[in-house]
Amino acid sequence: MLPYKAKIVYFPKYLDISERRLILEKNQNDANLVDEEYIWTDLSRIDLNGLSDNQYACLFLGDEAYAGSKSFIKLNQSVQEIFNKEFLIPAHNIKGAWNLVIKVLEKFQEYELEIIHYDQTENQHLTRLLSYYGINTLESKKQAKKISIFLLNSLKSCSLDFESVKKLLSRIKGDSILTIADFSNVFSFTNSDLEKVKTLSDLVDVIVIDCSFDLMCNTGALIITNDFRYYENLTEWVVAFEGLHTYGGLSGREMEVINQGLNEAKNNYIWQYKKKSLKFLYEEIKKIADRNSQIEISPSYSTHYFYIKTDIEDLNNLLFLIGQARGYKNGKYIYLYLPSRKYQKQNLELFIHSLELSLQEKNSRYILRYLDPRLYTSYNFKSVEIINLPSLEERREILEKAGYNTFLIPSDKVYIDFLTDSGTSSLSDEQWSSAILHDQKRAYSILKEAIEDVFGFSYFLPTHQGRAAEHILSQTMIKPGQFVINNMYFTTTRFHQEYAKGIFVDLIIEEAYKPEVYHPFKGNIDTEKLVDFIEKNGPQNIAYVCIENNVNMAGGQPVSLENIKQIRKICDYYNIPIVLDATRIAENAFFIKEREQGYSNKEIKEIIREIMSLVDAATISAKKDPLTNISGLILIRSPELYTKMKRMLEIFEGEYFNGGLPQRDIAMLAQGIREMTDYYYLKNRIDQVRYLGNLLKEAGIPIVEPIGGHAIYLDAKRFLPHIKQDEFPAQTLAAYIYLYGGVRTMERGIVSAGRDPKTGKHKYPELELVRITIPRRVYTNEHMEYTRDVVKEVYDIRDSINGLSIVYEPPFLRFFTMRFEPIKKTANL
Ligand code: F0G
Repeated sequence: MLPYKAKIVYFPKYLDISERRLILEKNQNDANLVDEEYIWTDLSRIDLNGLSDNQYACLFLGDEAYAGSKSFIKLNQSVQEIFNKEFLIPAHNIKGAWNLVIKVLEKFQEYELEIIHYDQTENQHLTRLLSYYGINTLESKKQAKKISIFLLNSLKSCSLDFESVKKLLSRIKGDSILTIADFSNVFSFTNSDLEKVKTLSDLVDVIVIDCSFDLMCNTGALIITNDFRYYENLTEWVVAFEGLHTYGGLSGREMEVINQGLNEAKNNYIWQYKKKSLKFLYEEIKKIADRNSQIEISPSYSTHYFYIKTDIEDLNNLLFLIGQARGYKNGKYIYLYLPSRKYQKQNLELFIHSLELSLQEKNSRYILRYLDPRLYTSYNFKSVEIINLPSLEERREILEKAGYNTFLIPSDKVYIDFLTDSGTSSLSDEQWSSAILHDQKRAYSILKEAIEDVFGFSYFLPTHQGRAAEHILSQTMIKPGQFVINNMYFTTTRFHQEYAKGIFVDLIIEEAYKPEVYHPFKGNIDTEKLVDFIEKNGPQNIAYVCIENNVNMAGGQPVSLENIKQIRKICDYYNIPIVLDATRIAENAFFIKEREQGYSNKEIKEIIREIMSLVDAATISAKKDPLTNISGLILIRSPELYTKMKRMLEIFEGEYFNGGLPQRDIAMLAQGIREMTDYYYLKNRIDQVRYLGNLLKEAGIPIVEPIGGHAIYLDAKRFLPHIKQDEFPAQTLAAYIYLYGGVRTMERGIVSAGRDPKTGKHKYPELELVRITIPRRVYTNEHMEYTRDVVKEVYDIRDSINGLSIVYEPPFLRFFTMRFEPIKKTANL
């Protein structure tokens, strides 16, 4: 299972085949040299790891003092605790570290050097260094006086088990006056068993660690020893080649990152997952090698890499040309290093398919078929957030404490959080860089440019989030007693219409209320009913028609452009304004492109512009499609209304240029609005939602169809038909899904619907659903597979599930804080 989710993502750059050729030519026809920007799956280096969010934070925490930096002292302490050795010399990277280690050996000239599990190609930098210094390694192992270097981080060592390595190291220690070990992979090798790490550490005098392996950094190396004389020799040379002994050629911030990495390497889930990924890659490539005599695969894989051997001179270039993928070519070998926390399974599939095709094409000058990497994944991870699954016992206790309400579960006790897609997106590196660049500088202008370009509106007001926009718009555009016509409802939208003394009306087509019925645009308004309603009530009594894109409560169902055009015609005739809730406009545009005649060749941005051109105003919760964690927007055509709304904004929200938000968020919003129009991002996003939906369907689980844009809705009435609606089937189901797998979902049924204010009775909505809402750019298909397994487990025991009864209920918006208890204490809950 994946022990992390995305925190910051980045987008590699797509190239068509002629651009790929050009780039390769510019790089001396050597894929090793191509800029990483163009590589979708880059297995050429191990130092391309994604950092954790905590490591990223360390970048801002580093102490850059020249001597005795706090960051060094912290790192030294962590090293002492883990390795039980006193002295630490950092180096700028593994090359710097080996240089110092070998240089110091000049003092031991009467001894010969033996390197165990050494391979000239595999350990290229060691080979180069030894040859530079003219050092020969020992051939015969019978030499009595020797210094030994043991490479735990090698294919050979990794094929041994812990006990064998321990035995081998004891023997080496007995034979040598000094034992040096490369322990770059000691955590992954021991599955982060810290006792084992100490045992191995005790068997050697000097440890060398390349921080790009288990410490998941992008640079840095550590030399660790207990031998004061050796340490003294190192400190002499470190000032000549690296820096001072307390920074060794590293910035303070990278020492902080390394220290954090050292602590994170103790999490064995990282290594379990990494081994699973490597095994998958290795086995798939082995199958290809078994069928194809032109490539050979290494006999095994290490904790981080393996190799392919081939006579095809061009193979690595072909991988680039065909799939924007590559390994590291070294003569006949192509080494494949798997960086940590960077790639999804689809990246590995892209690599495998590129290799398969490369072997068919063989000649880089005449390529017939090549792949579009954007169809595999639209982003890679730059930074990740670690996630943990509490034990079943713990989950049971947490659930009881939370009154069986998923809103009341603390997020660090949630493994996969599908509560909402609101404000939960990962940011892109471009959003972050824009935030830093435009903090207190030009943020408003770039937002204005983005809004004019993508939405085609010149008047707009930023708000802190969607409901604030709804508040201002409703107060400005609704006269007391006027009707507001909607396609279904969203809680806050309806609230603000009613708060402005409007009368809420729902005219969505009937299909929207039938979870088992297919309709391509279930969000449409029934235009016949619309005309009837206007005729019956008089156009002057209607404030506006409010169209919500990708109707949230209907399961993320789109509205067709044809429907919006018809509504426009009707509204023009009766002179009624149209307001759009454009919160999920990009996802709606994607469905229009996919399903509506005449739009398949249109760009997403064109479709968004066309939708926007048909409405008079819009509110947006920018925490959804526009990919921000906070912010909202009002768009408006009328300058008079703009002025009125601005006045209100200044009372409730902030200034017209910031809506009360820091400029960072305004800059992130500007960038997010542009990123949401990327077709491949949207396709990946909606395909991920559909992937989960289809997995559930295949498992026989009842869901709302067709599958919408941001969520899968489980139909609790069909899932738990034996539980009466006033015993809260959807609430019960959400509780069980958390209990069985730490997955958090949300009730959208009788609890959310609340009570009738007049009668005080439950409202009994037609739909009794559990929403599995997928945050944007955060989870991977593997998280979806896990979720299917969890829901299926609950489905298999559904007959034994009893409902809930109320323990506490607040007066309004009860779903947030209501508490329950199981009706009959069952074995499970
Ligand atoms: N409109 C729609 C369609 C929404 O889905 C939401 C929020 C809002 C308006 C209100 O915006 O939260 O920024 O104030 N939906 C969230 C959800 C809360 O989980 O579906 P906000």
